[in-house]
Amino acid sequence: MGRYNNRRKTMLSWAVMKDGRALWTMNAVPKRAVYGESLRSFSGTEFRRWDPSRSKLGAAIMRTRRDPSWLLPEEGTDVLYLGAGHGTSISHLHDHLCGQHNDLKGRLVAIDLAPRCLRELTHMAKSRPGLVPVLGDARKHAAWGVLLPRKVDWLFQDVAQAGQVDIFITACRRFLNRDGTGLLSLKAASERWTGEGEEALFDAVENKLATSGFEVEERIELTGYEDNHVLFAVRKME
Ligand SMILES: C[S@@+](CC[C@H](N)C(=O)[O-])C[C@H]1O[C@@H](n2cnc3c(N)ncnc32)[C@H](O)[C@@H]1O
Repeated sequence: MGRYNNRRKTMLSWAVMKDGRALWTMNAVPKRAVYGESLRSFSGTEFRRWDPSRSKLGAAIMRTRRDPSWLLPEEGTDVLYLGAGHGTSISHLHDHLCGQHNDLKGRLVAIDLAPRCLRELTHMAKSRPGLVPVLGDARKHAAWGVLLPRKVDWLFQDVAQAGQVDIFITACRRFLNRDGTGLLSLKAASERWTGEGEEALFDAVENKLATSGFEVEERIELTGYEDNHVLFAVRKME
């Protein structure tokens, strides 16, 4: 199934399809859903419905004002994902990055500090080669950095804990190539209350990114899918 467009359907990559207001990925593990999402065949190929209200990456793809494909990593590359959770976004990212049996030879290093999440991710990894779940703290590179001997071109963070921007900047300095794409999902409620309101917080984060060697390419409001969240899409300049 090559890239194509018709009135409703747009292929954002070889495996990610937008169909009107719905998002789908070509299922790398046919007949198996990951989180209860629907499975559907398009021209004989099975896709899984990507629920943007359960995935900040999915929400950002729906909300970006640019060509959404720019938010995706190149298929078959190594990427780093901090704050993997139960693997909702990870599973769709894996469909795109690796494909069935990891024919594309992608590598998705997924870090989370919750043992329960790791159990689910480890189970998922059995049928999704290329997915490398790691029980670890996004701030403690020494414990897992060895898994990434080379820098990556795409780094995603969704840790929903205080100090999100500092964790992101430090990780990008260590693991993201110059010119690489960094995506920071920022949850306002996870930061300490400054008394100045959410917009002031998002402005301060944007300013910090811009003065720390990143070009902020887009600030994507996720409200509607994920209230009080913004996704900052940056390019590493130094
Ligand atoms: C909002 S959930 C992630 C959801 C996931 N990104 C998705 O879209 O499917 C945030 C996750 O970050 C993890 N987390 C919080 N602080 C962390 C840290 N310092 N290092 C690694 N993971 C962390 C939590 O355990 C939780 O699973």
